[in-house]
Amino acid sequence: MSTTIKIDPERTVGHIHPHVFGGFAEHLGRCIYGGIYEPGSPLADSDGIRTDVLEALKRLKMPIMRYPGGNFVSGYRWRDGVGPKEERQTRMELAWHDLEPNTFGTNEFIDFCRKLGTEPYFAVNAGDGDMREARDWLEYCNGTEDTSLVRLRKSHGYDAPHNIKYWGIGNEVDGPWQIGFKTAEEYARTYLEYAKVMKWTDPSIKLVASAVSLWESNWVERAQLLLEQAPDHIDYMALHWYVGNSGDERGFADNDFAAYMGMSERFEERLSAYEGLIHALRLDNAIKKDIPMTIDEWNVWYRVFDEGKLEEIYNLEDALVVAMHFNAFFRHAKTVKMANIAQIVNVIAPIFTSPEGMVLQTTFYPFELYAQHAGDTALDVHWDGDTFDSGPNGTLRTLDVSATLNTSTNQLAVFVINRSEHEAVEGNLRLTDAAVKGDGRQYVVNGPNVKAENTFDTPHQVGTTEFNISASGSTISASFEPHSVNALVFDLA
Ligand code: AHR
Repeated sequence: MSTTIKIDPERTVGHIHPHVFGGFAEHLGRCIYGGIYEPGSPLADSDGIRTDVLEALKRLKMPIMRYPGGNFVSGYRWRDGVGPKEERQTRMELAWHDLEPNTFGTNEFIDFCRKLGTEPYFAVNAGDGDMREARDWLEYCNGTEDTSLVRLRKSHGYDAPHNIKYWGIGNEVDGPWQIGFKTAEEYARTYLEYAKVMKWTDPSIKLVASAVSLWESNWVERAQLLLEQAPDHIDYMALHWYVGNSGDERGFADNDFAAYMGMSERFEERLSAYEGLIHALRLDNAIKKDIPMTIDEWNVWYRVFDEGKLEEIYNLEDALVVAMHFNAFFRHAKTVKMANIAQIVNVIAPIFTSPEGMVLQTTFYPFELYAQHAGDTALDVHWDGDTFDSGPNGTLRTLDVSATLNTSTNQLAVFVINRSEHEAVEGNLRLTDAAVKGDGRQYVVNGPNVKAENTFDTPHQVGTTEFNISASGSTISASFEPHSVNALVFDLA
């Protein structure tokens, strides 16, 4: 099997915003409590932050972190989560039918973000909350004038404003499962009124509209109303999706590896359709500014409930699908300016904890690979060669490829996913008007078979290996193992 990959470093797709490597932490299951935050644990620091989790997250270089939900935010009262811990109230939590102790809230999350080196991105309650509450939260966080909310923040030990720049208005408002589900008309009106008071409170913020999570519903109409009614107040349109190899109602493949590997086409069709939709609406409504997309919840999700907690163990094929997301985001780098994997710890997550330790799931490794090696500019790659029958998605190229350039260091990274279950693919990489400076490195995420999992019993089934790849000039040969994710990294002359 062989494939030719052609790259011209001058043929660019767009700037890759670092925010495409974002994360998401929700008050759900053991994401916060027992994941990020476990006071009293020998693995936690004096603030109760799990240091093993923090160190693992640093490897993923997430520059932005969405919080506190998710469905959770649609019933959340931010005031419950600030102030002296002994006065914090435990509440019934209706999105996930749990009890919320509120011992972790705004300021604990900000401290966590500062330790991790990530930028907070808050979602406000547009479910059973109101715009006054949203605007007050913003003033509490970012206010600089001598108001009672700013004094309240200072009395909680935070003299300096948190300067939270990114704010989402609501979460998955298009879903009947949401507390305070909204029709297209209701949300467009709600969005505009929230946005007005929030931007009046702090004009420097960027606002995110909850655009689509239910893809079989009226997402075109929703986008149309939002961009007709609130164009000046929308900085991002947020898309959500989850996929899996399970045949559930949102899944696509039904325990069928080839069909699952065709999931790339789903991402492509959604990203292409939505960017075209925004483009058309901007044209129609004479909107001058760019309105990028954020995929602020995406991942593989099987909805496994373990003792009432949403937790699951991923395998290698899931890791390949995570990698395909980044290839798709890079191919749409012009319009995808943020993406947040949902979520970061225990719940639908690349990191899995117990009170005694932690496992890096299979999906951790492709995320790390892309976050560590991607450059700032996406390149337009042409590749041609072996194909496979993906069933519902027809015949597809066996390799899924993207490439990036680091324009400061002139480093090229080529990301290659071999979607063959059993066969290696020989790659013939040809550079146009460019040459490598010398040998490069090949990083490979792989495991013994596509069902291999990392668990507490077998924590290293899937991982990353690396080796030298000899190269000179403009033509390079590389071999891609079956079911592997690869990064080829070269300095260009
Ligand atoms: O990430 C888990 C849940 O998935 C989020 O709370 C919700 O927004 C989505 O349906």
